[in-house]
Amino acid sequence: MSEAGIVISQVSKTFGQQKVLDGVDLRIARGEQRVILGKSGQGKSVMLKLIVGLLKPDRGSILVDGEDVPGLSRRGLFRLRRRFAMVFQGGALFDSMTVGENVALALREHTSLEEDEVTERARSALSQVGLGGSYDKMPAELSGGMRKRAGIARAIVTRPDYLLYDEPTTGLDPISSDAINHLILRLDRELGVTSVVVTHDMTSAWTVGERFALLNDGRIVFDGSKEEAQATTDGPMRQFIDGSSEGPLQAF
Ligand SMILES: Nc1ncnc2c1ncn2[C@@H]1O[C@H](COP(=O)(O)OP(=O)(O)OP(=O)(O)O)[C@@H](O)[C@H]1O
Ligand SMILES: [Mg+2]
Repeated sequence: MSEAGIVISQVSKTFGQQKVLDGVDLRIARGEQRVILGKSGQGKSVMLKLIVGLLKPDRGSILVDGEDVPGLSRRGLFRLRRRFAMVFQGGALFDSMTVGENVALALREHTSLEEDEVTERARSALSQVGLGGSYDKMPAELSGGMRKRAGIARAIVTRPDYLLYDEPTTGLDPISSDAINHLILRLDRELGVTSVVVTHDMTSAWTVGERFALLNDGRIVFDGSKEEAQATTDGPMRQFIDGSSEGPLQAF
């Protein structure tokens, strides 16, 4: 029987002359709350795009619930993406549509629900993230934190099995960040999703993560539980946790 969850084996990805991923191995079990850490530019967003099939690896395999993502047909990819939702780094809302329409769009694209049901579910997703009153607002009228929450509403409205968050707290004040972290935790519990949170914010990581991976120089250089991460005394994971420019991780 095929393994449930995401299994990344020996994945490499190069853009032009730049080798971004160089033999990445990582397993994310169903129901896990996984955090992927790494300095800026190490390929964290690229990894998320590989998982959902937005990019193809040069080498290696990516299995989701036993299905080989790079090998999927267009139809297969479309089916796979219905089980995934991605919360993009900047929220990625369409500025010309209301917040409610942005959320409803995901349902219009992926389901054949009746109009009433689409609106009802979009409203309900917005209230789950505390934006019950913002259906008719334009994205430009929202603060950064509200845009992130609207992005989360758009992700959960299709009721995915996997929720991938790309830097959900970057650029937010500590209070709004904490609210987003607790929202992620609550959604994990309420929706029973497998979540993958890419971040370099350790406060966020400790709040939302149960397993941690650190991506550096194209490879996973740490993979372990929260307790194992907390207990590391040296090496790249300890340096990353402490936010020190001295150690095996190069600042530039
Ligand atoms: N489509 C692309 N074409 C060319 N280069 C790309 C592409 N996507 C990513 N890269 C390069 O790959 C590297 C990793 O990018 P990525 O966005 O995954 O970093 P990141 O770890 O998410 O960083 P950050 O924390 O700043 O978001 C960068 O050097 C980037 O320029
Ligand atoms: Mg990124």
